[in-house]
Amino acid sequence: MSKLSLDRILQSQGFGTRKYCRALIEEGDVAVDGVLHTNYKTVFDTGALTLTVFDEPWLVRERVYIALYKPANVECSRKPSHHPGVLTLLPEQFTWRDVQPVGRLDHDTTGLLLMSDDGPFIHAQSSPKRHVPKIYQATTQDAVTDALVEQLLAGVQLHDEPAPLKAVSCVKRGEFQLEIVLEQGKYHQVKRMLAAAGNHCAGLHRSAIGGLTLESIAITQGQWCFLDQSQLDLLVQT
Ligand code: URA
Repeated sequence: MSKLSLDRILQSQGFGTRKYCRALIEEGDVAVDGVLHTNYKTVFDTGALTLTVFDEPWLVRERVYIALYKPANVECSRKPSHHPGVLTLLPEQFTWRDVQPVGRLDHDTTGLLLMSDDGPFIHAQSSPKRHVPKIYQATTQDAVTDALVEQLLAGVQLHDEPAPLKAVSCVKRGEFQLEIVLEQGKYHQVKRMLAAAGNHCAGLHRSAIGGLTLESIAITQGQWCFLDQSQLDLLVQT
């Protein structure tokens, strides 16, 4: 952890510009570990520091790792065009901190979405070399057949891919329900694979990434939580 002046600490946590953070401190809106501080130049060790800003506690974190239960009709793109962006579901501080989604879910896909302001983490998680399985529950338009399951396991050829893409696992969960596990994260991959196999994806939900399941996190649609190290460790399991 590093030593930083109070205005820089506030800025690093996404409370606004340096000028705005200085004003907050000077106006008496900021306490550190329960003690009011009005001099923005005061230096603190940022390890395990709790700020209180406008009476709201805020644990100082160098980087944030977030799980969001993405609802439908929310966009992951940086410049959402038809629906609100995922950042609207998080406190404003995260937008200032440049928190971004790790990969994307389509606007109509629900489920587990990771978000972070740690560039190398985002890059590593999104790398095609990283074979972290992602578990999807798909609702199909036509009934799930054994032939569909076999085709998805054997591999289907998508237009712009050099080789067929295979599901790591594919299990019929109901007449119109399929659990499909993918290791790649290609654009609209589940929907395109289902279409290439002669069916149609009528609904899609991501229930887990690696060993991290939405069920274990116990958040409901639209909710988010910080992930701790033991939860992050589950992202590497295959
Ligand atoms: N595959 C899709 O088709 N869409 C998603 O949102 C995720 C995986």
